[in-house]
Amino acid sequence: MSTQETQGNAGGYFRTKTVEQSIRDTEEPDRALSKSLTALDLTVFGVGVIIGTGIFVLTGQIARDTAGPAVALSFVVAGLVCALAALCYAEFASTVPVAGSAYTFSYASLGELPAWIIGWDLMLEMALGCAVVAVGWSGYVRSLLDNAGWHLPQWLSGTSDAEGFGFDLLAFLLILLLTGVLIAGMKLSARVTSLIVAIKVGVVLLVIIAGSFFVKADNYRPFVPEAQGATDKGAGMAAPLIQVMFGYEPTTFGVQGIFTAAAVVFFAFIGFDIVATAAEETKSPQRDVPRGLIGSLIVCTVLYVAVSVVVTGMQKYTELTVDAPLADAFKANGHPFYSGVISFGAAVGLTTVCMILLLGQTRVFFAMSRDGLLPRTFSRVHPHFGTPYRSTVLLGTVVAVVAGFTSLSELAELVNIGTLFAFVVVALGVIILRRTRPDLPRAFRTPLVPLLPIVSVLASLWLMLNLPTETWLRFAVWMVIGYVLYVGYGRSHSRMSATTDRAD
Ligand code: ALA
Repeated sequence: MSTQETQGNAGGYFRTKTVEQSIRDTEEPDRALSKSLTALDLTVFGVGVIIGTGIFVLTGQIARDTAGPAVALSFVVAGLVCALAALCYAEFASTVPVAGSAYTFSYASLGELPAWIIGWDLMLEMALGCAVVAVGWSGYVRSLLDNAGWHLPQWLSGTSDAEGFGFDLLAFLLILLLTGVLIAGMKLSARVTSLIVAIKVGVVLLVIIAGSFFVKADNYRPFVPEAQGATDKGAGMAAPLIQVMFGYEPTTFGVQGIFTAAAVVFFAFIGFDIVATAAEETKSPQRDVPRGLIGSLIVCTVLYVAVSVVVTGMQKYTELTVDAPLADAFKANGHPFYSGVISFGAAVGLTTVCMILLLGQTRVFFAMSRDGLLPRTFSRVHPHFGTPYRSTVLLGTVVAVVAGFTSLSELAELVNIGTLFAFVVVALGVIILRRTRPDLPRAFRTPLVPLLPIVSVLASLWLMLNLPTETWLRFAVWMVIGYVLYVGYGRSHSRMSATTDRAD
């Protein structure tokens, strides 16, 4: 190992890997990914992973229980938080165009332990997020199958309604299938994705355009329902941390409800950051990654606000359903045909969300393995396909089993906290890297540094504080496990460790 900076700190916790070293690592012949993606591919990937369970499933539940028609404002709030983070991600991705997203960025700026923590944290976003979406997908497919008269036995229909043993066969099979597609190569994945994204965006536009004919002004009154005491679902450990911290009586709806809802519908935006994980496979990352990131975010924000305005106008928020609110709003207005088309589009569309979350996860895992923080064997790429097949097989299998055995709806909040934490670290990383490496060429520069990244950190923290107390506890437990693994394995096996320089 030639270039390393251990920066003379205790135990090397904060040793950083230089940007040059990160870029050089991508050039190792049997550990280099092929470069085939363009800005359009990235935007399609972005939209493909962003539009999913959030808008197709969560909108109804959140409008009904937390924000009323003002859920549209919650989408604006969550979108703004993401926009701030996207401007930070864009600078990092255009400076360090290497697989691994926030993990790689933090290795270059904050040091090895923070990088490990972020890599570990990103598993919550991507692996767990993928499982959550697969379970949501399986619900839509089962409802379509039920319409066609085919009924899966209860014990193979997931764990939520099962008495005794329950296994989500469809979610499990979906993830195994996607694992195969990813091993076969990026280009194939991008082609399949484009088609599916077209169907998904078409269905979203159908909801907006066809739905606007059924909007009744009465349904918007009140737009921001009055705050009321929380029921069981929003009290105790389920109350937002901020309400517990300040000793408020837990409430839902009202202005506070808009923010509580924003912290949950934030899930609908997760994914734009994953565009950055494909930087290494992009033809000209300096130009295309920022375009892909910001382009996909703008498209989705506009669509979400429009969908939530239309849906809460079609049906009184108190009557929206939980499982398939968009489709059911059409049913309630006497249009079952549209409802079927929407269910179909949602079922098709959720597959790309799952696939890209899994893709992002394999790339972060790949990068961590290439650095020796995880066993190096997982960073070998396939001799024919040029994809990191070992990490893909491992992760695909684990995520498939998790999706099969877990009912994960409440874990969506854990996905959100993990992602917001990554946003905080990336924004801090932008400020730090500007100071430590002002010389690096930056094709995209975040405007107003350090002000904008600081606002981004505060905005992300604010949404995190609006998540339930129990989510914070789960997050803390996950992080402690990660720390123990780092001390037990990663720290001594890291390629940046002076004592190890292993070949494989
Ligand atoms: N943004 C993705 C979704 O809503 C994760 O499903």
